[in-house]
Order: sequence, then structure tokens, then C-alpha cells
Amino acid sequence: MEAAAATEASASKPVIRVAAICGSLRKASCNRGLIRCAIELCNESIPGMQIEHVDIEPLPFCNTDLEIDGKYPPPVEAFRRKILEADSILFASPENNYSLSAPLKNAIDWASRPPNVWADKTAAIVSAAGGSGGKRSQYHLRQVGVYLDLHFINKPELFIQASRPPVKFDSDGNLIDPEIKERLKRVLLSLQAFTYRLGHSS
Ligand SMILES: Cc1cc2nc3c(=O)[nH]c(=O)nc-3n(C[C@H](O)[C@H](O)[C@H](O)COP(=O)(O)O)c2cc1C
Repeated sequence: MEAAAATEASASKPVIRVAAICGSLRKASCNRGLIRCAIELCNESIPGMQIEHVDIEPLPFCNTDLEIDGKYPPPVEAFRRKILEADSILFASPENNYSLSAPLKNAIDWASRPPNVWADKTAAIVSAAGGSGGKRSQYHLRQVGVYLDLHFINKPELFIQASRPPVKFDSDGNLIDPEIKERLKRVLLSLQAFTYRLGHSS
């Protein structure tokens, strides 16, 4: 669906709540910068879509010994609730050794414990990484998503070679490249249109 048509189509529809998860814990993370930019884009120019960053740093390592009397540790309960309440997920996934990062996989594992709170949500992935731009991390994440029952948009894909010139992020990890900002917007519009198509907004 064209960007303008998607925006128009959203006018009479319920708001889509998106939980955004960053796979990097670094303070000046470029992936976190992508999420900040996505939040700005929604506030400025994508009516009908709200993104909330859900921090995964407080989560302990996934360990079923920490599940007591059917309850998860408080940071895990809070994280699972945020995912449960969302219609869609936006993953900002760096690539670590040809795969998704350990913190992101840890968060995914916690929220997959019963009941699996990822199930049946729509999702999109964007990446700032090294030379690969995050391709391999995204395809591993899609594979993990099969078991979680996530429904990913196929296109557009967004792979950013963060460390290669020209400079795309400032020293705080903020996205400063207007062309990438436009491409990020197209990812969000695609996620919005796909979520409406599946009738998943509440
Ligand atoms: C342990 C480790 C492994 C990495 N492996 C890869 C890799 O396989 N492919 C790649 O493109 N970048 C790789 N990188 C680079 C990161 O993806 C890149 O620095 C990314 O920008 C980090 O995300 P952030 O800016 O959000 O912290 C690796 C970085 C680290 C720390």
C-alpha cells in the first residue's frame, strides 16, 4: 500500500500499539536511535500508530528456577505485560556473530514462557550493524519468530551499515540520515497496513 493511502486508511481505524525492543544495551546504541526516530515519526506523521520503547535491560537471564508458584520475577512480569498489551512488535536488532544479540534472545525467551505472549502479533525488524547491516540477525530472528507465532512484514527490509561512511548516526546514536529516516517510515507504514489487514489492532 502506498504511504499516503496507508495514512488515509488509518484515519477511521483504532490505534495500533507497538512495543519497540532494542537488542543493544549500549548507551549510545544506534538501534536505540532507530527506535527514538520511529517514535518521532509516529508522533509527527503516522496517525493511528503509537510506539513505546520497552527496555529489556532489567531482565535477568532466563532461568526456569526463577519461576515460583506460576509467577515470573517482577521485571519479567512487567515486560511480559507490555508485550501482551501490544498489537505489534518493532525489533531493532544489531547483529552479533551472525545472529541476534544475547539480550534480545533472552527477552524473547522470557516472553515465550507459558502463555507465549508473542503469539499472533505482527512484527517488523530494523537493524543497525556492522558490514552485514544486520541481514543475518534479521533472518535468524524471523526463524525464531516461526515458533513464537509472530507475523513479520516481508518488505521493505532495512539493513544499515552503521559504521561505514557516510556518517548516519551522531555520537549519541541519533539517526541523522534523512534518506534512512524515510526508509524507516516506509517500514512503519508497511507494519501499520499489515496489522490492519490482519485485523489485529484493538
Ligand atoms: C560481540 C559482537 C559481535 C558482532 N558481530 C557482528 C556481525 O556478525 N555482523 C555485523 O554486521 N556486525 C557485528 N557486530 C557489530 C554490531 O552489530 C554493531 O556495532 C552495531 O551497531 C551495534 O549496535 P548498537 O549501535 O545498537 O549498539 C558485532 C558487535 C559485537 C559487540
